[in-house]
Amino acid sequence: MTSGKTDIAGLFRRRLLAWYRRHKRLLPWRETSDPYRIWISEIMLQQTQVDTVIPYYERFLKRFPDVFALARAPLHDVLKAWENLGYYSRARHLHAAAKIVADQWDGRVPDTPAAIKALPGIGDYTAGAILSIAYGRAVPAVDGNVRRILSRVFAIEEPANDPQAQKHFYVLAASLVPARSASDFNQALMDLGATVCRARHPACNVCPAASLCLANRHSWQERLPVLRRSPAVCRREAVAAVIRNDQGLLLVVQRPAAGLLASLWKLPGGFVAEGKTGAVALREALCAELDLSVRVGRRLCFVDHVYTHFRLTLVAYEARISKGSPRELGCPSWRWASPADLKKLPMSRVDRKLLEALAGADG
Ligand code: ADE
Repeated sequence: MTSGKTDIAGLFRRRLLAWYRRHKRLLPWRETSDPYRIWISEIMLQQTQVDTVIPYYERFLKRFPDVFALARAPLHDVLKAWENLGYYSRARHLHAAAKIVADQWDGRVPDTPAAIKALPGIGDYTAGAILSIAYGRAVPAVDGNVRRILSRVFAIEEPANDPQAQKHFYVLAASLVPARSASDFNQALMDLGATVCRARHPACNVCPAASLCLANRHSWQERLPVLRRSPAVCRREAVAAVIRNDQGLLLVVQRPAAGLLASLWKLPGGFVAEGKTGAVALREALCAELDLSVRVGRRLCFVDHVYTHFRLTLVAYEARISKGSPRELGCPSWRWASPADLKKLPMSRVDRKLLEALAGADG
């Protein structure tokens, strides 16, 4: 690094740390030094905003106060505690990792990059965050927010979402992390990215790095970071059958243990392939999932949901069994569920939204 850049680096580090000590957000996971609690927070904070995470974090830790409680719990209970937080593979990985930590690490969260990254659900960013915050290790935690800050302060024009450029951002961040205040430094970057150096309309007037930030000097804040355009988000349609038995119980199925929303419960049905009608897709899905022939009736309601890679419209149809009885052909389990059962079964947000829309449609 040139001496000019070294000067900026040193100043940036000092200003950021001083700012953090005055302005840091008061967050529940900042009131503990327990690596288990810090780990839980970092997993929940992957892809989810701080405000959304807080109540889940508090409830989860009441329910699973230490790694042994989490390791012992059935996956069903962990998924239930995660319900509506989304990205359910996080909960499944966390549960699997808790078993490893309990059995192989005597309940202690590993404190080296190689060991912690060997746990399910822990990549470079989460490893850096846990190791620096829980153990004070001088390792960076670099996500999109941190790349945005670095690209502005140092006027880096390489696309921040390009894998090769990401390596350069990582090396730069690693060179900035102070040996003795890694926890504060990484959390200062998180807070700066969330509250000041925002993607749109950054608040440069209150930024501790404003006087040394090259983007601020040249008014490039809105131009940086450069992002390579990602492909347009595609639309998909799925259909669900509302089938009741003589007692008025609703037929529900469990999703397979791998794949999208694995092991969660839902109404029977599936995606609609290009060129097929909803009714045909539904008949085929019920045949494949439960070995059932059904007559498809009225369209009852629909809900929209946005996933990372596609937009989904899920449509519910009334249906009746015309031949057969349910059998676990393409699903691990099924049941006739009462309203109380439905509340207890772990479900994805979109399936829960559909049940709510159905309850509204039923009056
Ligand atoms: N985002 C990811 N980890 C975080 C943390 N520890 N504090 C605030 N925001 C975060």
